[in-house]
Amino acid sequence: MPRSAVAIYLPGDEIPAVNAELAEAGYEAIAVSSPDELEALLECRPDVGLAILDGEGDFDATIEMYALLHEGERNVPSLMIVSATASDRLSLAGRARVNGEFVTRPYSAASLRWRVEAMLIRAETMLIRTEALGDDARAAILEGEVGVASPAVAQRGQIVVIFNPKGGVGKTTIAINTAAVLQMRRNQRVLLIDCDTVTGHIVTSLGMAEIPTVVDVWNADLGRHASHSLPEIASAHSSGVAVLTMSRSPLHTEVLEPKRVAQAISAARDAYDWIIIDMHPDYGPLNQGIFALADQILVPVTPEVPTIRAAVQFREVAVDLEIRDRLALVVNRSNSGVSASDVEKVVGFGAIARIRSAGMLFVHAANSHRSAVEAFPKARVVGDIEALADRLISMRDDPGGTQRSMLWFVRPVRDLLDRLTSQAVGRSLSLRRSSEPVHTR
Ligand SMILES: Nc1ncnc2c1ncn2[C@@H]1O[C@H](COP(=O)(O)OP(=O)(O)O)[C@@H](O)[C@H]1O
Ligand SMILES: [Mg+2]
Repeated sequence: MPRSAVAIYLPGDEIPAVNAELAEAGYEAIAVSSPDELEALLECRPDVGLAILDGEGDFDATIEMYALLHEGERNVPSLMIVSATASDRLSLAGRARVNGEFVTRPYSAASLRWRVEAMLIRAETMLIRTEALGDDARAAILEGEVGVASPAVAQRGQIVVIFNPKGGVGKTTIAINTAAVLQMRRNQRVLLIDCDTVTGHIVTSLGMAEIPTVVDVWNADLGRHASHSLPEIASAHSSGVAVLTMSRSPLHTEVLEPKRVAQAISAARDAYDWIIIDMHPDYGPLNQGIFALADQILVPVTPEVPTIRAAVQFREVAVDLEIRDRLALVVNRSNSGVSASDVEKVVGFGAIARIRSAGMLFVHAANSHRSAVEAFPKARVVGDIEALADRLISMRDDPGGTQRSMLWFVRPVRDLLDRLTSQAVGRSLSLRRSSEPVHTR
């Protein structure tokens, strides 16, 4: 069943804007004002897929609601609205990866909408996927956090977005070559997507200008009542990377409805280990939907003032979009201009890789329709990109590194919620709950 309703427990003056945004996204928002109302709603509406809870108002009511959302077999994810100070203190100044469970006030209704969409899309694709699994694996997933792959089943593909609002900083170069390194040298299955419908040039660089685009295929699907998945549309490059481009022209892209694109990308996580996405430099709905899904957002910066400024602007926008904790800097052409450590200081988030300037090497590789990994396998700059790819792998496999902060944050908050939940349950005779903790991790 599509989980298309969202329960909302928010102050009255915040409800209309949130309602309007969610309605535009096709979700029915249902306001509740007490735990009893939420309980009644959950009983009659199994399509409630998410709840937005106020973490600043009546905390007892919020805790009771949290318990109801996880009562018995039920596991409805929630998005908690907290104050910026609380979030800052808990998330260690924005470094935590909190998997979409917290939003800070003040928030914009639009950014909340994309968070809700991303959480529901992830939860829905997870549910569809678990239907094919046995009871044990399904139970393992339901025990864990919805939206995060359980170790009991195969790991889902990581979504890595490459973005900087400025052009010419190396986004496409880094996207192509990171994809090629992961595929060719680390034996990973990679889907490389050009989501830049205006200036995208992945397919021309790789000599694949004639491959079917998502717009071509989805437009043809309209007449046939079919919908091709992204793996079905993608074409293989000589490097082994599966390559996909959204469109060949910036016109007539209506079929690229942001929610549909986000759903398709999320579903493709089952078929690949990595989905690398090159984006057009804008903050429109298509990009916001993709940002919300991303596991990592790499921000290439060349050591010049205008590029650094653009990255600072993106950091500010990322705070509003609640994706700040996913940003990672990649200092490109790092051996020229401002020093890499100064770039890091000014931009305000850490670099995970430095890529040296390589003269015309990437241009020559593109002229031969290959990645630099294939054309110049021994080049030192390819080694730099290999180090970037390894860093991405270690961030995925060892969240204790960069993401250690998430555990410091999530565990104590979860433990607290668990404790408070059992107290609330003890107090409230109307609540039945199994003796298991709310979340086992
Ligand atoms: N580290 C580098 N060394 C040399 N040339 C580079 C490097 N990174 C990017 N380039 C070149 O800079 C130009 C712009 O890069 P591109 O990846 O197209 O940027 P964007 O996608 O951000 O617009 C391209 O000609 C590319 O070959
Ligand atoms: Mg580009």
